[in-house]
Amino acid sequence: MTTSPDVNLWTSAEHALDYLRRAESIPHRVEGEATLLEFVPIEVNRVLDLGTGGGRLLALVKSSRPRAQCVGLDFSPTMLESLRKLFATDRSVTIVSHDFENELPPMEQFDAVISSFAIHRVSHKRKRTLYQEIFELLTPNGVFCNLEHVPPPPRRVSSGDFRGERRSIEQAARS
Ligand SMILES: C[S@@+](CC[C@H](N)C(=O)[O-])C[C@H]1O[C@@H](n2cnc3c(N)ncnc32)[C@H](O)[C@@H]1O
Repeated sequence: MTTSPDVNLWTSAEHALDYLRRAESIPHRVEGEATLLEFVPIEVNRVLDLGTGGGRLLALVKSSRPRAQCVGLDFSPTMLESLRKLFATDRSVTIVSHDFENELPPMEQFDAVISSFAIHRVSHKRKRTLYQEIFELLTPNGVFCNLEHVPPPPRRVSSGDFRGERRSIEQAARS
């Protein structure tokens, strides 16, 4: 069966469970998460995780910033269930069921809005409005950190194609 790229599979339990099983194996994920966490202030008060899934990134935030009040937002019933289990005894984590294709629900402001491997699914048009909504949710010094995989350059681009660019960067660095 072929699936249209426009269909968001995350509401399927099978798709969500398959992801949770292989989440560990995403290449360079740990480095990406570590880099994201470097940008989240250690004294952060409130954190929102968009497309939080099983709560992996939120758990990392909580382990290093235990006093942070966190909100995990997702729309997949399977992910939400897994999240509820993970944070069953942690009253500092609030779980919000919401499809971020639609305007974000009213919430108090956050010092950090974070997300990993989730926002790429929405159209560029929706990304623009979503980023505006995120901006409005941030406290004055708040940060938005989004971890995503970026596709590699097309095959026809070889290292040789970058030589000219590299020379101009080196020249610029010298000037
Ligand atoms: C690849 S998983 C990543 C989960 C988690 N952030 C992680 O790093 O393991 C993508 C997550 O985004 C959620 N998601 C995708 N589209 C969404 C939408 N429109 N609204 C809310 N959540 C969405 C999915 O349900 C899923 O939990």
